[in-house]
Amino acid sequence: MKILVVGGGGREHALVWKLAQSPEVEKVYCAPGNAGIAQLAECHDIPATDIGRLLQFAKKRRIDLTVVGPEAPLVQGIVDEFQKKGLRIFGPSAAAAALEGSKAFAKEFARRHGIPTAAFAVFTDVQEAWRYIERHPLPLVVKADGLAAGKGAIVCETLEQARQALEAMMVQHVFGAAGEVVVIEEFLRGEEASLLVLTDGDSYRCLVPAQDHKRIFDGDQGPNTGGMGAYAPTPAVDAHQLRQIEEQLVKPTIEGMRLEGRPYRGVLYLGLMLTAQGPRLVEYNCRFGDPETQAVLPLLESDLAALMNATIDGQLAGVELTNRKGAAVCVVLASAGYPGTYEKHKPITGLDRDFPDHVLIFHAGTKRSNGQIVTDGGRVLGVTAVADSIPHAIREAYAAITHITFDGAYYRRDIGARALEHLRRSSLGKGHRQ
Ligand code: AMP
Ligand code: GLY
Repeated sequence: MKILVVGGGGREHALVWKLAQSPEVEKVYCAPGNAGIAQLAECHDIPATDIGRLLQFAKKRRIDLTVVGPEAPLVQGIVDEFQKKGLRIFGPSAAAAALEGSKAFAKEFARRHGIPTAAFAVFTDVQEAWRYIERHPLPLVVKADGLAAGKGAIVCETLEQARQALEAMMVQHVFGAAGEVVVIEEFLRGEEASLLVLTDGDSYRCLVPAQDHKRIFDGDQGPNTGGMGAYAPTPAVDAHQLRQIEEQLVKPTIEGMRLEGRPYRGVLYLGLMLTAQGPRLVEYNCRFGDPETQAVLPLLESDLAALMNATIDGQLAGVELTNRKGAAVCVVLASAGYPGTYEKHKPITGLDRDFPDHVLIFHAGTKRSNGQIVTDGGRVLGVTAVADSIPHAIREAYAAITHITFDGAYYRRDIGARALEHLRRSSLGKGHRQ
């Protein structure tokens, strides 16, 4: 098989790395890719949203399978376009990708199918939205309906913050058309988790549940980012809870989409809040999470290309998904200033070091310039370690990251801290019972 991976971040590096290991895969291409991906795949400078050029490329190179990383081309309908031309592609149709493309659609879908999620209301009128906010207890979460590159959800602790959020979205249109419709929802308390599920529209297979670290600073302080690190499996989701999530969220979602004539085929990302009342849906994404994928794929034992083909062919029921024992931790190395403005083009040192096999350096915002690898984005690298346990994986990832640096390199020092806390509490709990 010749495979084309669309995208150029850490998620796509992890996808390329895993797909290249499949015995069925003879060559991997990536568009646009990055400096790390270029070590495994032939990269072509085509933007992930240029569906026309990607189509031409896939036809010309006789690509057997295209795998789409980011949400924008999925929501734009890349899968529908490829299929119209008889090309094989992994991902949901535009109609199914609406689970991420429109938060109003996703929330109303959840309500129609009894999927537990935060109480909410949808507004197109700023005055009505404001009246709703005045009548409901704070904090509230104000969300732009459409895609906003992970910046469209604002947790509002005060009326002034809520007013500013509405003003920015509905009056100043900072997210363009994405903010013309706004979802306002109840604030959920609990531990967050991310579950990636492969589904062919009928059957499904879960990858290991992960936890992302969305805020920029240690202790979950500061603004939201695309994700500063992740680990898997998260001890917050035990076997009982996973079953509950499957019964209450995964199955009704897959069935609901089928019943509504939008069968979901691809990978479905469920953003979850584990509340005292049980798991709640925070959001759907129509793609692999980033950085979660950098922690989850190194634990996947099964052949990813075979799983993706079975997903496309409606044959997932006949394929097992197995994971290796142990844990993986990914620490993101970011440019100074991210998620705000930051400088690019800083030479990165330490990448040529001989890291042990259980350390994987996934590139996100990097490129090659005059023979050097330089920074080219906010999130620059994902340093991942695989080990027999979360504490060991944390130690290994942080040991590796000290060897890599660039001017202004920043990373969180507490990736996995919640898992450690969880493990400590549960071992104390066991102690009491004995
Ligand atoms: P979203 O864009 O919907 O994924 O939201 C981004 C982030 O905002 C989530 O990962 C949560 O950390 C936070 N968030 C969103 N909705 C809620 C909610 N209803 N309650 C608490 N936190 C939320
Ligand atoms: N890490 C969160 C996301 O991929 O949306």
